[in-house]
Parts: sequence; structure tokens; C-alpha cells
Amino acid sequence: MKPILKRKMPLVAFAVVVALATSIMVSCAESQKVKAKTGAQLWAENCQRCHNTPSPASFSHDQWTTIGMHMQTRAQLTDEERDKIVAFLRQF
Ligand code: HEC
Repeated sequence: MKPILKRKMPLVAFAVVVALATSIMVSCAESQKVKAKTGAQLWAENCQRCHNTPSPASFSHDQWTTIGMHMQTRAQLTDEERDKIVAFLRQF
């Protein structure tokens, strides 16, 4: 290895570490954005992809809990997202 290349190695390693750290920070920012979403937002974004959304008033609290579990797998939601949506739907 030429001496000049050898001197650049730490720089390359540093660049790799910076790139990794940046991508980790960006992905954390993404999930924080999801966390900041309200139940109403999540409901609007996820629950009318496949069908029209029935009015929140059309099912009882217990029914929404069951529907939430059922639709969580269909919409591929996290538990947190499902809980927010169900809490939103149960307000009415
Ligand atoms: C991937 C497609 C898909 C997504 C996304 C989806 N649903 Fe559904 N949903 C269905 C299908 C298919 C049915 C009818 C068959 C069934 O009940 O499984 C249904 C039925 C329903 C029903 C009727 C249940 C009943 O007993 O009459 C409700 C209410 C409902 N969905 C609410 C939601 C809510 C709330 C969300 C968001 C969390 C959601 N759905 C997301 C596919 C989806």
C-alpha cells in the first residue's frame, strides 16, 4: 500500500461511521413522525385503503376493540397504531 493511501484509511472509516450514524438518525426521525400521529390521522391514512370507513358511531366500544384487532392484521399496523385508532373510534 502506498503511504498516501494508508493516510486516507482513517478518513474512509470516519466517513463510513458518519454515514451509518446519519442513516440511524434519519430512521429514528421517521419513527418519531409515526409516533406523533394522532389516532384520527392514522385512521384516515390506513382504514379507507380497502373499503369506505364506517362512521365511528356505528359500532360499540367493544365492537371497535374487536374490529381493531381484526383490521390490525389487514392494515399491518403496530399495536401502538391500533391502540390510537381504536381510542379515536371509541370516542364517539
Ligand atoms: C388490507 C385491507 C383492509 C384494511 C387496510 C382495513 N380493512 Fe377493514 N375490512 C377489510 C375487509 C376485507 C373487510 C370485510 C371482511 C372482514 O370483516 O374481514 C373489512 C371489514 C371492516 C369492518 C366491518 C366489520 C364488520 O363486522 O362488519 C370494519 C368496521 C372495518 N373493516 C374497519 C377497519 C378499520 C377501522 C381499519 C383501519 C384500522 C380497516 N378496516 C382497515 C379490509 C381492510
